[in-house]
Amino acid sequence: MTTKHIGSSIITLITLLISLTPTLIKSEEGIDVLLPISLNLTVLTDPFYISAASHDFGNITEENPGAVLCPSSVAEVARLLRFANGGFSANGDSTSHSPSFKVAARGQGHSLRGQASAPGGIVVNMTCLAKAAKPAAVVVSSDGTYADVAAGTMWVEVLETALKRGVSPVSWTDYLYLSVGGTLSNAGIGGQTFRHGPQISNVYELDVITGKGEMMTCSPNLNPELFYGVLGGLGQFGIITRARIALDHAPTRVKWSRILYSDFSAFTRDQERLLSMANDIGVDFLEGQLMMSNGFVDTSFFPLSDQTKVASLVNDHRIIYVLEVAKYYDSTTLPIIDQVIDMLTRTLRFTPGFMFVQDVPYFDFLNRVRNEEEKLRDLGLWEVPHPWLNIFVPRSRIVDFHDGVIKGLLLNQTSTSGVTLFYPTNRNKWNNRMSTMTPDEDIFYVIGLLQSAGGSHNWQELESLNDKIIQFCENSGIMIKEYLMHYTRKEDWIKHFGPKWADFVRRKMMFDPKKLLSPGQEIF
Ligand SMILES: Cc1cc2nc3c(=O)[nH]c(=O)nc-3n(C[C@H](O)[C@H](O)[C@H](O)COP(=O)(O)OP(=O)(O)OC[C@H]3O[C@@H](n4cnc5c(N)ncnc54)[C@H](O)[C@@H]3O)c2cc1C
Ligand SMILES: *[C@@H]1O[C@H](CO)[C@@H](O)[C@H](O)[C@H]1NC(C)=O
Ligand SMILES: *[C@@H]1O[C@H](CO)[C@@H](O)[C@H](O)[C@H]1NC(C)=O
Ligand SMILES: *[C@@H]1O[C@H](CO)[C@@H](O)[C@H](O)[C@H]1NC(C)=O
Ligand SMILES: *[C@@H]1O[C@H](CO)[C@@H](O)[C@H](O)[C@H]1NC(C)=O
Repeated sequence: MTTKHIGSSIITLITLLISLTPTLIKSEEGIDVLLPISLNLTVLTDPFYISAASHDFGNITEENPGAVLCPSSVAEVARLLRFANGGFSANGDSTSHSPSFKVAARGQGHSLRGQASAPGGIVVNMTCLAKAAKPAAVVVSSDGTYADVAAGTMWVEVLETALKRGVSPVSWTDYLYLSVGGTLSNAGIGGQTFRHGPQISNVYELDVITGKGEMMTCSPNLNPELFYGVLGGLGQFGIITRARIALDHAPTRVKWSRILYSDFSAFTRDQERLLSMANDIGVDFLEGQLMMSNGFVDTSFFPLSDQTKVASLVNDHRIIYVLEVAKYYDSTTLPIIDQVIDMLTRTLRFTPGFMFVQDVPYFDFLNRVRNEEEKLRDLGLWEVPHPWLNIFVPRSRIVDFHDGVIKGLLLNQTSTSGVTLFYPTNRNKWNNRMSTMTPDEDIFYVIGLLQSAGGSHNWQELESLNDKIIQFCENSGIMIKEYLMHYTRKEDWIKHFGPKWADFVRRKMMFDPKKLLSPGQEIF
């Protein structure tokens, strides 16, 4: 079954406390599966928990699970999956009716379109597992080169624990209140990706419970099919319970800069030049975003005395390209930091007078989006629909994309909402055996149209703009890949995975042949 309908949950799961034998009950809509008491799993069916697990950050879909499992051990999750496979029986003999229901791990539920939902099935709350982790959710190795992390842990917690030992992961997402398992199931990209690769490129080993309920440890040498499959695997092959994350020395402070351009080609030329510079003389973080006069021009980064000047620049040009870079430092690298800032000032071809630098603690820099979240929450603009579009655009077509999409479509709207990210990254730090797809070029741009509905925009309108953008790329032969996508048609998934589709299907057959896991992705 590949289709699903909101509210058509056919399976309800409850803990049966009286009977000792598993029972199947026909309901009007279908079959109710009762978890046998010998399975010893307590699931939550209270409307409060059901509702919490049926929503996500996207605020567009609503998919009720039959129940939520708040596990206190990895063994519980394995038991649940073995039971869902029909491989468990209360009285020792194999059950004649194999109860099959869907199961989805849920990290922070920051998905956009119900990807962490399990309509009618069981949502596994990964936070519970992280809280129960022994000896702790984050354990830094004695030599400080890696951390073993419970997958339900948020990245911000990994950072806090690692910093106490003077170390830190190297590759980050912009926002840190995402679970490790959730970002590793996608890719985990941001301003450090060009230098270190995405988060999936910075993992040494994983513990995974496969869709069959087997507990497996995997790495590039041990069970590599599972390891490469689950990295970017959209939750399709197993539930990651532990990840061994690469760490490095942590800097203490950051020079964080936003540099404004009115000229698009100067902007991308400088972005790409910084991309190719060596570690010691180059920057540690590289992103970019757009400021458009038909959108909300956020000048809060800039000194108070320059905010008016920035706002007028945007008004005069209608669009300004913002290069965002950061260079880390601490007392030992203090002498170099001024040289790097000086190099940027002298060699970059930005609009004169429009380079701004802040000096902030490393933690505050990485956690910068938290401030934005708090501002939006105060304004009641956080829990609103988010029809986000994230795409990777091959470098060879970035000018066509800019002319057709940014100028032709975005600037032509009466108003735009949200942030538009626009930055290049390199593909040589990605491993093609992993499940995530990128364009087939050495350099590609990350474009994030992070729109929020509300006020004058409803999400359907914003979504139709996304459709036009995809259509434009299609018509112009720009071979984009979507990120955090939500296809509902199988042919779109086949097209997305292209040459890797056969591997994806083969791995599904190996690790989750009953197709139980993360049904909200709507792939199988
Ligand atoms: C404000 C904001 C900023 C963001 N910024 C970035 C960014 O800069 N870069 C970036 O790459 N992404 C970014 N994202 C996207 C984010 O990485 C994904 O939405 C990610 O899935 C969120 O993690 P989560 O824990 O909330 O996942 P969930 O929504 O809970 O789950 C995502 C998917 O992974 C599966 N899953 C969850 N945990 C596991 C597990 N342990 N094992 C197997 N499968 C699992 C789920 O079933 C689901 O299919 C951002 C999202 C938000 C809301
Ligand atoms: C059931 O699980 C709990 C932990 O959730 C454990 O303490 C208890 O011993 C288990 N009971 C049986 C009969 O296995
Ligand atoms: C998951 O568990 C945590 C910790 O118990 C809880 O705070 C959170 O609300 C739960 N989430 C869902 C969706 O049930
Ligand atoms: C969207 O968010 C609002 C505010 O939290 C909530 O009341 C509503 O149920 C959400 N809708 C969906 C579809 O998630
Ligand atoms: C811009 O908008 C106008 C009016 O809505 C429309 O007629 C025109 O075709 C649009 N141009 C592009 C390039 O989409």
